[in-house]
Amino acid sequence: MSELTSNLHVCIAGTGSYVPERILTNAELAKMVDTSEEWILTRTGIRERRIATADETTSQMATHAARRALEHAALAAADLELIIVATITPDTPTPATACYIQQNLGASRAVAFDISAACSGFLYAMKIAKRLISSGAFKNAIIIGAEKLSSVTNWEDRSTCVLFGDGAGAAVLRIAEPGEGAILATEMGTDGSLIHLLKIPGGGTACPITASNVNDHLFTLNMLGREVFKHAVNRMKEAAEKVIARAGLCAEDIACIIPHQANRRIIDAIADRLAVPNERVFINLHKYGNTSAAAIAIALDEANRSGAFKRGEHIVLVVFGAGLTWAAAAIRW
Ligand code: ACO
Repeated sequence: MSELTSNLHVCIAGTGSYVPERILTNAELAKMVDTSEEWILTRTGIRERRIATADETTSQMATHAARRALEHAALAAADLELIIVATITPDTPTPATACYIQQNLGASRAVAFDISAACSGFLYAMKIAKRLISSGAFKNAIIIGAEKLSSVTNWEDRSTCVLFGDGAGAAVLRIAEPGEGAILATEMGTDGSLIHLLKIPGGGTACPITASNVNDHLFTLNMLGREVFKHAVNRMKEAAEKVIARAGLCAEDIACIIPHQANRRIIDAIADRLAVPNERVFINLHKYGNTSAAAIAIALDEANRSGAFKRGEHIVLVVFGAGLTWAAAAIRW
């Protein structure tokens, strides 16, 4: 079948994740900034998060997650054709973090590149990989969400430092055999008019690093949390509804919804508006906080391995992040 005419089904053949060993608790944070364990837990749902060591890089965490996903999918690194990494905390501005991972895995045949869509990056990568595989251009791909947010966190800002953590998650996509699952529908969106709500202002061409600005917290995440909250709920609800409808499903058909792990109150609001009961909503936010592009990838792996859904059941992934960006996917497992 030619690349122009093929429209193959694409399934998720394996998942993997990795989080650093070091646990940073709310009690420890309460000693660092003017906050309390009670405030963090009730306002966000987060109990603790993982923090990478000083010399642990995004690509190293991603490589651990990728190896687990490849093993799960029974795919040799040497047979991997495509690596897409979603991250806002690359090892280096260039080359792409995906190139380091390609080298670590020994996946010498794979084309490797990064994308930047903040927390939405993993599902952006899923749509790109799905299209590249279903068109016949590649037989398989690994998509990875990986972040070392601790390296871009202002540890003196109580409104952001309590939220973020480090980690990586990965999924192997390939052409589905008859009877296997499939990524049924995907949705992506962007609203650049809301750039100001969530950004790292410095470090790029708009504000290069100089000796004089290096201490001004221009190179850490700045966020207007309350505004982001409102948009997150509306956009994620709309995106989830679109993929559910496009897949020919309704809310009762969804065995598990895996939302972006940013705030428990956002997750509860979305579940409520989608009329999905709480027991069908996967949450691991309390353990890891918000790990941006890694969050939904880690959650997918933990949900998969813990039996939160079975083969043949339908799941929905939905995310939201800086940009503003959002995305969703409906999948038959
Ligand atoms: N401890 C104690 N008090 C705090 C803390 C803290 N850690 N942080 C803020 N406060 C105070 C504020 O100063 C404010 O005090 P004031 O009323 O005297 O001014 C009060 O708490 C309420 O602040 P809000 O910002 O209104 O608190 P809110 O209930 O909105 O919760 C939060 C803040 C948790 C950030 C929430 O808005 C949120 O989760 N927003 C969404 C974040 C998100 O989803 N980001 C996703 C993308 S992340 C990415 O892309 C990398």
